[in-house]
Amino acid sequence: MAVREILHMGHPLLRRQARPLTDAERASPELRTLVADMEDTLEAAGGVGLAAPQIGESIRLAIIRIPGGGSRYGELETVPLTVYLNPEIEVLEPETRGFWEGCLSIPGLRGWVERPQAVRVRWLDLEGGTHEARHDGFLATVFQHEFDHLDGRLYPDRMTDLTRLVFESELDRHLADTGEI
Ligand code: NI
Repeated sequence: MAVREILHMGHPLLRRQARPLTDAERASPELRTLVADMEDTLEAAGGVGLAAPQIGESIRLAIIRIPGGGSRYGELETVPLTVYLNPEIEVLEPETRGFWEGCLSIPGLRGWVERPQAVRVRWLDLEGGTHEARHDGFLATVFQHEFDHLDGRLYPDRMTDLTRLVFESELDRHLADTGEI
C-alpha cells in the first residue's frame, strides 16, 4: 500500500482515453494493490474521488467516497468508499446545475461547471458483480467529473465561462458571503 503521486494538468496521460479492464486484470492481485494505493492516495489528498489515470494508470477505474452530511454543497447522501470498474454513465435528465468543482490534478483552483443533475451509473466490482445506481444533484456532478477522467477530460473543458476559474483561496475570501458557495 502506498500513497502515489497525483499527476497534474499538463501531463499527457490525463488527456488519454483510458482502456477497459479485462476480466483477467480485474481478478489480478496487481489490481487489488492498485486499488489499495488509490484508497491511500485519496485518503492522503482528502478528495471525494480519484480516477486511475490521475496516478498514471490509463485504465477505466475510479474510486469515490462521499462522507455525507452537511457540506458547502448542501446536505449530501453518503457514498461509502466504492470501486468502479469499467463504469458507464447515462444522463437521465438534461437540466443542469452549477457547482464550484475542484480536482486533485488541478490543485488550488476551482471552476464553475454546469452539468446534468440526474445520472444512472453502471459498473463492475472487483469480484465481477454488476451494479447500477441513480445519483442526483451534487453526486451526479461528482460521478460525471470522475468518469470524465477516464475519457481524458478535465473540468475546465466543461466550463462555459472562464472568468469563473478562480483560486480556491479567493473563492473563500470573496464569494463565501454571497451565497454562491
Ligand atoms: Ni478530478
